[in-house]
Amino acid sequence: MNQGAAVLFDVFGTLLDVYSVTRRAEELFAGNGEQLARLWREKQIQYSQLRTMAGRYASFASVTRDALEYSLEALKLNAAPGDVGRLLDEYKRLAPFVDVAPALARLHDSGARLGVLSNGDSEMLETVLVTSGLHRYIDLVLSAEQARAFKTAPSVYALGPRALKVQPHQIVFVSSNCWDACGAAWYGYTSFWVNRAAAPLEHLGVKPSGVGESLSEAAEFVLQNIHQQGELPA
Ligand code: LAC
Repeated sequence: MNQGAAVLFDVFGTLLDVYSVTRRAEELFAGNGEQLARLWREKQIQYSQLRTMAGRYASFASVTRDALEYSLEALKLNAAPGDVGRLLDEYKRLAPFVDVAPALARLHDSGARLGVLSNGDSEMLETVLVTSGLHRYIDLVLSAEQARAFKTAPSVYALGPRALKVQPHQIVFVSSNCWDACGAAWYGYTSFWVNRAAAPLEHLGVKPSGVGESLSEAAEFVLQNIHQQGELPA
């Protein structure tokens, strides 16, 4: 067992399926649920990036609310009182992807230190990790809130090496958001992109060190690197 093995996971879209809000969205806005869920997520990411570029941090909870309210307006959906609250509540019980618990259990059993590094506020993260049952595998919860910026700001990625007291390349950073896996690679992590949707690589002039279709492939990548080399490649 390698004591230094450390893995950080992105949360929204990687461990938890942000599109599990679609069912409730469809119940409230029949025929528009999927479109609403997609625009909401797109705007949430865009607002987090715009705010970071302009140095206008706001909590991820408020960015998420703003993105939802914009999306309802853009799609001309008339929300009844309480609908926004009902949709936001879904964020507290997002479903984990099916490949997540087995992969985390395997890594946890190998002795690796597992954490999350997410744009989510600490409180949001604690809640969803407990509700999804994933908290039992996670030793460390790092929130962008601590840097008052969102990914891909280097100050957010810097939270990982600082907390784990190792070099960035000694940490595997796992994300299903390709832009996030690229941001982590820019920072110097050994990054792994879980490409569940068979999407093309972002054209950012950087490549994650590993790519696979599921979290179990990410676990395999971590374990192989540890077993072959005793530590992760520089
Ligand atoms: C997160 C965003 C990328 O969890 O969804 O950090």
